Amino acid sequence: METVTRLNTQPLRLLQLTDPHLGARPNETLLGLNTEESLRDVLAEVRDSGVQYDLIIATGDISNDGTIASYHRFIARVQDYLPGIPLAWLAGNHDNPNNMFNLPGSKPMTGDCGLGQWHFILLNSRIPFEEGGELSNHELDRLEGLLAQHPTRHTMVLLHHQPVPVGSYWIDGYTVKNAERLFAILERYPNVKALCWGHVHQAFHLERGNLKLFASPSTCIQFTPQSDAFSVDHLMPGFRHFELHDDGRIYTHVGRAKDRIYCIDFASTGY
Ligand SMILES: [Fe+2]
Repeated sequence: METVTRLNTQPLRLLQLTDPHLGARPNETLLGLNTEESLRDVLAEVRDSGVQYDLIIATGDISNDGTIASYHRFIARVQDYLPGIPLAWLAGNHDNPNNMFNLPGSKPMTGDCGLGQWHFILLNSRIPFEEGGELSNHELDRLEGLLAQHPTRHTMVLLHHQPVPVGSYWIDGYTVKNAERLFAILERYPNVKALCWGHVHQAFHLERGNLKLFASPSTCIQFTPQSDAFSVDHLMPGFRHFELHDDGRIYTHVGRAKDRIYCIDFASTGY
């Protein structure tokens, strides 16, 4: 486990960024939206909020095409707006893990990391060449091993795909197939306080016993909540802010870019 040096007094501040879907070149678009422009807008909003983050975790679909250039650009844009903050990431269905995790030079953290009283475990829920998610036996064993190693540390588990349906028929087809095995493990460790993901491009939260579940908006296009058919929402690109207390309490909210007009194909029936 890599340990991050803590900059602030408590609570810890964690920024979740997700699904930027950057392309190989800076001006690439998704449904008409320039994804680098919207990432910049989100990062500017975070910077202007004045919050000093201790850690940033990006929960997948960093790239839309898996290119090395897109990963380098994500790291560079985060550094431009939020310099010096430790960054960790995990892969989503659009990512190329080979390119993402073997970048030359200094790389974001992967696997798990520790900060203060908190432990962050990053899982791989990808199934190669599929949109949906599943956790391999290897990942579930790794999770259980890490939890057994750190049974008293407050823990947040993060992955790309949603482990529970979020209420939209089309995207709930991509829910983690074997999520019951994940929950069976998490329920044995009451120190696991939160389970967080991306992929659904919308804010979501749910409580499952003592476990809090959260999804973050994407930094690019938003999907309309509770829509059975594919639908692009008019909400702005965003992020999720967490305050993590030493006693295990969590405060969180979603923030979004403001006052921006984007050229988005709202009539699209897929992406
Ligand atoms: Fe995704």
